[in-house]
Amino acid sequence: MRGPADGGRRRRRHETGSGPRPCRRRAGRRGRGPGMSAPTVVCPPGDRAALDAFDRALYRASAGARSPLILRDANGREHHADAADWCAGHRPGDSGLLDRCTGATLDVGCGPGRLTEALLRRGRTALGIDVSAAAVRLAQARGATALRRDVFRPLPGRGRWEHVLLADGNVGIGGDPVALLRRCRELLTPDGRVHAELSPPGAGSWAGPATLHTPDPGAAGPVPGGAGPGAPLRWAQVAADDLEALARSSALDVIETWTEEGRWFGTLTAARGAS
Ligand SMILES: C[S@@+](CC[C@H](N)C(=O)[O-])C[C@H]1O[C@@H](n2cnc3c(N)ncnc32)[C@H](O)[C@@H]1O
Repeated sequence: MRGPADGGRRRRRHETGSGPRPCRRRAGRRGRGPGMSAPTVVCPPGDRAALDAFDRALYRASAGARSPLILRDANGREHHADAADWCAGHRPGDSGLLDRCTGATLDVGCGPGRLTEALLRRGRTALGIDVSAAAVRLAQARGATALRRDVFRPLPGRGRWEHVLLADGNVGIGGDPVALLRRCRELLTPDGRVHAELSPPGAGSWAGPATLHTPDPGAAGPVPGGAGPGAPLRWAQVAADDLEALARSSALDVIETWTEEGRWFGTLTAARGAS
């Protein structure tokens, strides 16, 4: 099947008309691929402070340090992550996700490009997009094709991606999983697939305002919790046992769910007859 980066006589449909195109990585050609113009800056303005905090956390992690992040949801519950995991070459549990991306793949919220780069290494057509300047810079530095873009704004290859990745909890982007999955449907070919990382069954789902906290990783003893006001952002969490209901609201069908190395995932495709 042809991907968004294919040449040939078929008419290309880009949301941005002459916008950049994803490419396969070629030997000796790392970073941006052909046709990659200067990035369009695209940050959800309300999330500026969170994005700055995230950028700093990524740079710290890329220098090899621990880089804890705490997301506090509207119910006051804390969700912990370490940006160092995203800067790693491989996260246990990535394999099944990568195996399922058998064609042109858009890695939404690619972070430092771990998965985009792994797909390129497998010979896949892959593009990472992220609103974080640090993420895109780090992704490009490791050889991934990546653009600084907002998933909700115009993107190259709309309607031509065979796979969209929402890894590492990225189904939470924007704080409205229905809107995000509907957007992913627009980006996909009619029989394309979204692969989303989920929270374990029973973990509960939530969506809406949250705050991002970056406790001092150099602090002695256990990392303190999300003290202070934090940086506001909109985020969501989807538990595996809530995926069917979310899919119905998003005009998608769940093809499968699976678990690997303690991580949970689901694959969705456009519901039959959905317009
Ligand atoms: C949980 S991290 C994911 C890390 C990444 N998947 C990895 O493997 O390193 C969430 C990512 O989503 C990005 N993001 C947040 N909102 C976004 C949006 N509207 N469009 C694109 N990326 C977004 C963040 O900048 C961040 O890099």
